[in-house]
Amino acid sequence: MLTSLKDTTTLHNGVEMPWFGLGVFKVKEGSEVIESVKAAIKNGYKSIDTAAIYQNEEGVGQGIREAGVPREELFITSKVWNSDQGYESTLMAYETSLEKLGLDYLDLYLIHWPGKTKYKETWKALEKLYKDGRVRAIGVSNFKVHHLEDLLKDAEIKPMVNQVEYHPHLSQKELLAFCQKEGIQLEAWSPLKQGQLLNDPVITEVAAKYGKSAAQVILRWDLQNKVVTIPKSIKEHRIIENADIFDFELSLEDMEKIDGLNKDERVGSDPDEMSYGFSD
Ligand SMILES: NC(=O)c1ccc[n+]([C@@H]2O[C@H](COP(=O)([O-])OP(=O)(O)OC[C@H]3O[C@@H](n4cnc5c(N)ncnc54)[C@H](OP(=O)(O)O)[C@@H]3O)[C@@H](O)[C@H]2O)c1
Repeated sequence: MLTSLKDTTTLHNGVEMPWFGLGVFKVKEGSEVIESVKAAIKNGYKSIDTAAIYQNEEGVGQGIREAGVPREELFITSKVWNSDQGYESTLMAYETSLEKLGLDYLDLYLIHWPGKTKYKETWKALEKLYKDGRVRAIGVSNFKVHHLEDLLKDAEIKPMVNQVEYHPHLSQKELLAFCQKEGIQLEAWSPLKQGQLLNDPVITEVAAKYGKSAAQVILRWDLQNKVVTIPKSIKEHRIIENADIFDFELSLEDMEKIDGLNKDERVGSDPDEMSYGFSD
């Protein structure tokens, strides 16, 4: 049973990754992102998920510094954007992200989207960064089973994490089972389906039963499925609410009720169709 925000999953290379963190997609650079990151860390969050394309890495870095928690207690993730895929360009993109964040290493660096032609070359750059001790863990995002199978044919190092869209309308059973078999930690993006699941009658009924909010029930469902989760909020009271999920446990029956909501329905792009930012 997970008991606190400090609880971690051990990645296949032994690195400890928090089960829970703050996402900052669409959080504005400047005071909005600085205040969100500070509020999260002040309230016990250890993990922050950003990306080059979010254009808020400088503010994330400032929020981290102003929060005053030692760097080594935090787990910071960023991602190489599609237009930077390729070996040399990925190595450069990593340096740019570090510089903007004002950090000298990341805990996790991800390939943001697979695209069609360059993810193996891009992966080689991530392997190089990892082997050189520049990053503590490397992974992918938005990889389906077929992308992972293809990457694994040539990879020297297996991705430690796959961050994908995951929520009760997209429960990704096959991908989750594949990742678990391979020792790849699944991480949920848009765990709240960007707010669209919060009025679902099944979720609100389960929430009432436990005296919890709809968001808390969904995020708890992630953890009990052994999926790392990174909800986004810019409001401190929601940042606190979302993390208050370590004092209850959903019954098997309620887990199954929520599983029953799956519709294989996405709020974001299908990874096989995502071409934005790619040159080919
Ligand atoms: N790898 C990728 O391709 C990818 C793609 C998308 C997202 N992500 C990552 O995943 C993170 C989370 O996903 P997301 O930002 O798309 O969506 P999300 O976390 O599912 O939902 C965020 C939305 O829900 C609202 N919200 C949050 N907590 C709430 C609560 N307790 N009650 C009511 N409303 C609440 C937020 O509004 P307020 O801010 O106003 O509270 C915001 O509108 C991102 O920030 C990003 O780090 C990664």
